[in-house]
Amino acid sequence: MANAYFDHNSTSALKPQVLEAMMPYMTKQHGNPASQHSFGRHAHEAIEQARHQVAKAVGAQASQVVFTASGTEANNFAITGIASNLKQTQILTSSIEHPCVTNPAKAMQWRGWEAKSIQVDDSGNVDLRDLQTLLEAPTDLVSVMMANNETGAIQNIGRVVELATRKKALVHTDAVQALGKINVNFNDLNVHAMTVSSHKIGGPLGAGALVLNKRVDIQPLLYGGGQERGLRSGTENIAAIVGFGTACELAKQGLKDFSSHTLMLRQLLEIGLQRTDAIIFGQHANRLPNTSFFAFKNIDGETLVTALDKLGFAVASGSACSSASSEPSHVLLAMGVDPDLARGAIRVSFSADNTKKQVEKFLQAIKQAVKDLRQLTSVAA
Ligand SMILES: Cc1ncc(COP(=O)(O)O)c(C=O)c1O
Repeated sequence: MANAYFDHNSTSALKPQVLEAMMPYMTKQHGNPASQHSFGRHAHEAIEQARHQVAKAVGAQASQVVFTASGTEANNFAITGIASNLKQTQILTSSIEHPCVTNPAKAMQWRGWEAKSIQVDDSGNVDLRDLQTLLEAPTDLVSVMMANNETGAIQNIGRVVELATRKKALVHTDAVQALGKINVNFNDLNVHAMTVSSHKIGGPLGAGALVLNKRVDIQPLLYGGGQERGLRSGTENIAAIVGFGTACELAKQGLKDFSSHTLMLRQLLEIGLQRTDAIIFGQHANRLPNTSFFAFKNIDGETLVTALDKLGFAVASGSACSSASSEPSHVLLAMGVDPDLARGAIRVSFSADNTKKQVEKFLQAIKQAVKDLRQLTSVAA
């Protein structure tokens, strides 16, 4: 069992205050928010309070927040729901998006759309010239993530919006990794839709949201009893939504500390890594403060993750969401990284609870693990 958890971009531990806020809704407060009695009314009020908390944390109005069960659902909802009400032209997504953005875009090809990919440069930044070229063809929807889950590269959403809206295309951004790590302001970003997720910020699994500009016409993914203003039917997961609201409030309060503390840890880590032959991906990009993505030549990432786990450190190889497959990271391939080197990628993602001591011990452990693995392969060769 690992004693240092460095995989917060995959999922973060539930914060104690979040659990405390959720507890009544998992025990005595069991009303359905659609019911007229006091249990139902109380549940309804709890959801509306959480809606205000989420809205405040992301610089939106409460009426713009539609709760979903995950970031994946919100991204699917955004892409298919918005595209369904537009002309069938092309959907542009960046080549480093999470599959829950690119796959629904590809699925829309069955309904007459064309899905095209926007290139990134070798630092993992979306190539705005490529976007501009692609926008020469009729385009109605563009989706570019605010920050990448693997490299942490923060995208220039302001410029994406400028270029896309000049061509009258709507813009969606996946802010799942940005929330709680950098400032996220829906209003200032001027996007038409934005996705956030609860379990990446110390909230529970089972809650996410799509923040929607009121002028955007969108088709629901789920039809039924008309919850969420008819945009997302299904009895709400009240405890998870309440937890998400509390986690948003805490994330907003703790943003400065999270940023300075995790950046200090990452600098410590990367100074140590630079004394080895590690290659750090996107090192010169404007990145999330808590994220470092790197590889050692001729070392397999999954093997190194297992070795580090035995030494007490939980890290990810490539993207954890796709770790069921041993394909190299599509993000690194898009950045032009050699596939063999990409197979060695390790991602460290910190939270405010990680310590300098853990990072110092990790540096010793990783040096030892790499040395051992190299010795093993040289004996085998
Ligand atoms: C950038 C990004 N978008 C979307 C998701 C999916 O969010 P969820 O796990 O809430 O479905 C993830 C999960 O890792 C992610 O990193």
